[in-house]
Amino acid sequence: MSSHPSSSPSRNSGKGARAGDDTLREEIARGLSESPPTLPPKLFYDDAGALLFEEITRLPEYYPTRTEIQILEAHLPEMARRIGAGAQVVEFGSGSGEKTERLLRALDEPAAYIPVDIAEEQLRRVAASLDRLFPELRIAPLAADYTRPFRLPPAEDLPKSGTPPQRSLLFFPGSTIGNFEPDEARKFLHSAGESLGPEAILLIGIDLVKPREVLEPAYDDARGVTAAFNRNALVHLNRLLGTDFRPEAYRHRAPWNEDASRIEMHLVATEPQVVTLPGPLDETGPSDARPRLRLSLEEGDHIVTEHSYKYTLEAFRELTASAGWVTRETWTDARNWFAVRFLEWNGSGH
Ligand code: AVJ
Repeated sequence: MSSHPSSSPSRNSGKGARAGDDTLREEIARGLSESPPTLPPKLFYDDAGALLFEEITRLPEYYPTRTEIQILEAHLPEMARRIGAGAQVVEFGSGSGEKTERLLRALDEPAAYIPVDIAEEQLRRVAASLDRLFPELRIAPLAADYTRPFRLPPAEDLPKSGTPPQRSLLFFPGSTIGNFEPDEARKFLHSAGESLGPEAILLIGIDLVKPREVLEPAYDDARGVTAAFNRNALVHLNRLLGTDFRPEAYRHRAPWNEDASRIEMHLVATEPQVVTLPGPLDETGPSDARPRLRLSLEEGDHIVTEHSYKYTLEAFRELTASAGWVTRETWTDARNWFAVRFLEWNGSGH
């Protein structure tokens, strides 16, 4: 998995300071004005960040990916029976496609596969390789930020027209839902249900609450890959919007906040910093307009780059129920570190 969203994707990279990125600029300005200053986790996933995340998934300390894959391997036939024949599969944050391939192999004649991801290069690459593996399957990749409203292509627009899809399945593995604040997660899952239609179903990965001794190393590994992944958000932002962060002047920290039930990814200033977010540029060239924002940090001040919420099975059941989803089945690993859940839309929640 991976890729959480970023602006209007890498289509704009290289000339990120243009008008098309003004929505992102405003989103970033708002986040950096908060206390503590906050950046959205989608900034992790430029092409370099997508590769760093893949490296994270192979670290001995980072248990989520391999635990979820174990759960899928043990229970995919049962999941496929639940999902039924002819499903149209939509995946948010399709990332490396490793889990997708397993799911698609297990499903009975899936009607279509629509991966939605912000890391466009990886999206194209993975879609092309799945197309070789599943020549019969209609694949319609969508480079988009799924945390913002967007429209799925109507079924009849999909290539390789075949039988119309039976129902839409949202495949949302990796515990990416944990990157949303719980309130946002509820709204997001509710609107996903609405856009997928009356027969919508959801197969979702959830990282479970566990001891600090397991959680903190998973987000602060010995080799420093997660630290590099965290700093890369600043590199990416500098390129997208022309900020002047000095990534090397921040250290990585990842405390477990037990009261809030989340891992927090921080970048801590190692010396005083003044950072400038330029105002939008117009088409005629670099403007010397006033900066959109100036951010001052003292040594030891931090920026929050990610919240990764961990749930109990009960808390997640309540959250999804209030978003209009009925929990039908839960699969976990032997240590109860991670869960994969199958839910059906009833739309009446919220
Ligand atoms: C992509 C949301 C699964 O919260 O574990 C890994 C990303 N951040 N290390 C997570 C992440 C730091 C992540 N997800």
